[in-house]
Amino acid sequence: MEKLQGSARLMIVSDLDHTMVDHHDTENLSLLRFNALWESFYCQDSLLVFSTGRSPTLYKELRKEKPMLTPDITIMSVGTEITYGEAMVPDDGWEHVLDQKWDRNVVLEETSKIPQLKLQAETEQRSHKISFYVDKGVAQEVTKTLSERLGSRGLDVKIIYSGGIDLDILPQGAGKGQALAYLLRKFKAEGKPPANTLVCGDSGNDAELFSIPDVYGVMVNNAQEELLQWYAENAKNNPRIIHAKERCAAGIIEAIGHFKLGPNTSPRDVMDLSSCKLESFSPEQEVVMFYLLYERWHRAEIEKSEMPIQYLKSICCPTGTAVHPSGAERSLHECINIFNQCYGDKKGKQFRVWIDKVSASQADLNTWLVKFDKWELCDEARPCCVTTIKLNIKPEAPRGFVLTHVHQAWLEGYAASNPSTWIF
Ligand code: GLC
Ligand code: MG
Repeated sequence: MEKLQGSARLMIVSDLDHTMVDHHDTENLSLLRFNALWESFYCQDSLLVFSTGRSPTLYKELRKEKPMLTPDITIMSVGTEITYGEAMVPDDGWEHVLDQKWDRNVVLEETSKIPQLKLQAETEQRSHKISFYVDKGVAQEVTKTLSERLGSRGLDVKIIYSGGIDLDILPQGAGKGQALAYLLRKFKAEGKPPANTLVCGDSGNDAELFSIPDVYGVMVNNAQEELLQWYAENAKNNPRIIHAKERCAAGIIEAIGHFKLGPNTSPRDVMDLSSCKLESFSPEQEVVMFYLLYERWHRAEIEKSEMPIQYLKSICCPTGTAVHPSGAERSLHECINIFNQCYGDKKGKQFRVWIDKVSASQADLNTWLVKFDKWELCDEARPCCVTTIKLNIKPEAPRGFVLTHVHQAWLEGYAASNPSTWIF
């Protein structure tokens, strides 16, 4: 990854459905807690990898539904497709590896003879993955028959059962574990293997991730029977794997703490942000805290006092300005006055703010430019601003810096329907 000059401090490789994303958590709180932790402490020097069974089509759908970060690497279709960066540039080399002893047509021919196999949606059928639904009761028997028949036709396949319903057929060299091993080999060849790797999963197709040498692993609390069974049979004495007490993303945070892989307190778990003094100046952390305060003020989750307003005044340069996506320009202090009047206007509403893709660069000795996407969720609407802020280092200021400029533009396709309420 071009993002990093050297080795990643931590590489998290996480499944999405029921691992990073909790479909029972309607407020997405554990995911938002993870996001704030990652953007504050890890995004600059670590790698986030999503590894999902979903095809690119269903993966993109999930991204629209849930407040997910943009990962550095996306592994889709059960380890058969690897892409890099936000642009999702495919790793063609990997697909080439998977062509060995693989023939889709033979798989389709043999599976059509087994009536218990129900083909999944067209979007989930990929060049190196063919997927079905099959009832739990017959899954083992069907798997056995299939692997015999495909073997006798000269194919070398991997059959994976997940979630007590999904059956995937892949080339033997594919799968989430093999895709991770391939990435690790690649990083090693480039001379930058991650210092630590943490794999996270909940179901059958994640099992392979836990068998990669030297990785730490967390099976989230809500892990499926098939994964727990795999663990009991294959990895019970491995101290590098835990079954978390917490569900989904909260279980991932728990594992970061358990294995001592780095900071594990999400800023979302800290109530008194304005008095939270950082050990050293971190633009990423400041931005995350700023928008948390912003969310809590609108939601009336903090007391209506002068403190947050004083905090804002202390970090905004009196001559600083903000350019709103509409093009309107205001002084930062005017923005604070408007913000002051918005206390509690989102109380009882589904209102959340999260930031993604934070990148900070030093323009000169005293000036930083910080760029990020700022997302808001307000009831059904989900606008996003591409935001750039300029700040000056000022040791005598209470937080050691002052904001001199804020510039926001709507992310294409994500303008707010009521932009007048927007301040920062
Ligand atoms: C995802 C995919 C599906 C696959 C399942 C298990 O749900 O959409 O095709 O069978 O993961 O890997
Ligand atoms: Mg899952």
